Amino acid sequence: MNIQQLTETAQAMVAPGKGILAMDESNPTCGKRLAAVGVDNSEDNRRAYRELLLTTPGLGDYISGAILYDETIRQSLADGTPFPKAMQDRGIIPGIKVDTGAKELAGHPGEKVTEGLDGLRERLKEYHDLGARFAKWRAVITIGKDMPSRGCLEANAHALARYAALCQEAELVPIVEPEVLFDGDHSIERCFQVTREAQSRLFSQLYHQNVAFSGLVLKPSMVLAGKDAAQQSAPDQVARETLRCLRDTVPAAVPGVAFLSGGQSDQQATEHLNLMNQQAKKMQLPWQLTFSYARALQHVALTTWRGEKDKVAEAQQALLHRAKCNSAASRGQYNEKLEHEMAA
Ligand code: 13P
Repeated sequence: MNIQQLTETAQAMVAPGKGILAMDESNPTCGKRLAAVGVDNSEDNRRAYRELLLTTPGLGDYISGAILYDETIRQSLADGTPFPKAMQDRGIIPGIKVDTGAKELAGHPGEKVTEGLDGLRERLKEYHDLGARFAKWRAVITIGKDMPSRGCLEANAHALARYAALCQEAELVPIVEPEVLFDGDHSIERCFQVTREAQSRLFSQLYHQNVAFSGLVLKPSMVLAGKDAAQQSAPDQVARETLRCLRDTVPAAVPGVAFLSGGQSDQQATEHLNLMNQQAKKMQLPWQLTFSYARALQHVALTTWRGEKDKVAEAQQALLHRAKCNSAASRGQYNEKLEHEMAA
């Protein structure tokens, strides 16, 4: 394992002013997104949509890396250039989702554990050969009555740590994603408690599996009240509680934290990131704070495109605009004026 190389890649993924484009939807999830805009879930439509995203002019100014899926990493632009090569040409690091999904956790009704460890060493080698330089694994934690259980938190943290160790062995930077779901009517205090526990168990397991903290990126959810909670969280409270949680749990050696959007609106996700970076300036935090959004980056592009060839350029402008707003937010420099300015 070349820790120096892994550290440099991890630092490049969270370089100032840059974030990650998550476009690693599995085929069924991509199908759901396409169905919402009346597009068939065919392999070629999935390919065409991902080509639109990756060939957005100027995307590499704001996006350091993009996360592909097993099908996508093997696909090419219409001109025959493989996606990983097209990304490298644009200064975008290829990444790959390697988990095989969150499945029911036996003995724990209503809870999930993420699968994909069997055969992972061999798959990682293949992905590295195909050009990937980082990977992603997502664990899903539900807040509910008597949930999450200790068994669920431990099983997911353990799997994330085993995945991360295998990634570093294969010279891939692991993105470790313990997602605490936004679904439910829980309070922000409860979200804080669960997120803190999930993250501290995760870093303990990473330590026990000899994972180098300098060669990974944490992809957490933000700390906020559930989407059905009567009392929704104020943006500055979300920023404050999320930072408090990170400070309690994330080692200083970790180069960066790249948040998921988790069902927040595009503008909410940007505003929260911006406020965190503004507050962070007064706190001297050791890590970069940026984005690794899927829905909050792609939503406008997808609804602009709707499968129509003559909408590709407009959809790319919409994606670039969100990338630019989130880039500004990662520096604490996002504002209303920027939000309403059309990407040039
Ligand atoms: P969202 O930003 O849509 O939550 O997706 C991020 C992601 O990669 C989920 O694994």
